[in-house]
This record gives sequence, structure tokens and C-alpha cells, in this order.
Amino acid sequence: MPVTSKIDEVRLEVSELAKAAPTAQDLMQQMVKLLHERVLKYNWVGFYMLEPGAQPPMLVLGAFEGAMTPHTRIPLNQGICGAAASSGLTVVVDDVKKDPRYLACSLETKSEIVVPVFVHGKVVGELDIDSHFPAAFTIEHQELVQYCAVLVGNKMEGSSSPKSSSSKSSRSSQ
Ligand code: SME
Repeated sequence: MPVTSKIDEVRLEVSELAKAAPTAQDLMQQMVKLLHERVLKYNWVGFYMLEPGAQPPMLVLGAFEGAMTPHTRIPLNQGICGAAASSGLTVVVDDVKKDPRYLACSLETKSEIVVPVFVHGKVVGELDIDSHFPAAFTIEHQELVQYCAVLVGNKMEGSSSPKSSSSKSSRSSQ
């Protein structure tokens, strides 16, 4: 019998959600709930989306699961969130205490990943996950979160066939 990992199971579940969700907004709401419930180490899961037409550009909190955050609007020059959106790179922080860019959401957060969401090659938002565990986002988790971000980008583009994720990343464990 083939052995499936938890990550493979969750990957399948999010791809099923993407097939069934009528809109990208529905998909984002269902996805944050599923990721938060199914992966023990994902203690806060949420989307930040770029406010259409805002100058200077602004990330606005969208669908999320976990404790309320004081950071409902984040400019691109602030936070791990701003770094990911402005660079178009996945940012993985193994120890948030050691990263001067980090904007605290919860005192319990130890590590964080932020993956940009692209629509027609442009960043439109991002998927942000915080963990109470240090260095929670191994390469397998990074690939899962990037896959989720691609599903949302595809849904926003109105396409149903998942493109493969080719996101670049930067890891900070200073
Ligand atoms: N930690 C993020 C802010 C968002 S909260 O974690 C939900 C950052 O440094 O940008």
C-alpha cells in the first residue's frame, strides 16, 4: 500500500477545494480553515491582498484563521509580509526574534512563512502562516504553501488547471 504523508493528504484536500470553490474568495476562506485545522504547526493562517489602486501600495488582511492580529494593513516596506510582496519571493523565517523585519502578531509565534500569490505574473497578495514551533517550515511545508498560493492565483485568473509552482524563496535563520 502506498504510504501517504500528512503533507500529501493536505495537498490533495486543498486541490479538491480549488476544484469545487466557486470563487477565489470562497477558496481562500476554505483554504485557511483547512490548513489551520489539519496542520498542527500552522497556528495562524491568513491572506493579505494588495488594495486595488492604493498608492503607496498596501496589503490588507483578508481571510484568516487564528487569533486577531493588530496588523490589518501593512505597507510594502514593513514586515515579513511587505518583504515577500515587494520582492515576489517566498520568505521563510526560522526564528522571528532574530529577524528585524518581523512585525509581531502573537508572542507565541516562533517561525513564519509568507508566499506571494501571482495573477498573470504580478503579485496580488500573499499567504502568511505563523507557527508556535521554531523552524516549522521545512522545504516540504514550503512546497505545500507555494502550491496553495498557486491554486489561489489560478482561481483568480479563472483557470482551473494548476500551473506548477516555480516560486523562488529566501530563508532567514540568522
Ligand atoms: N508577522 C507579519 C505580520 C502579520 S501577522 O503575523 C499575522 C510580518 O512580519 O509581516
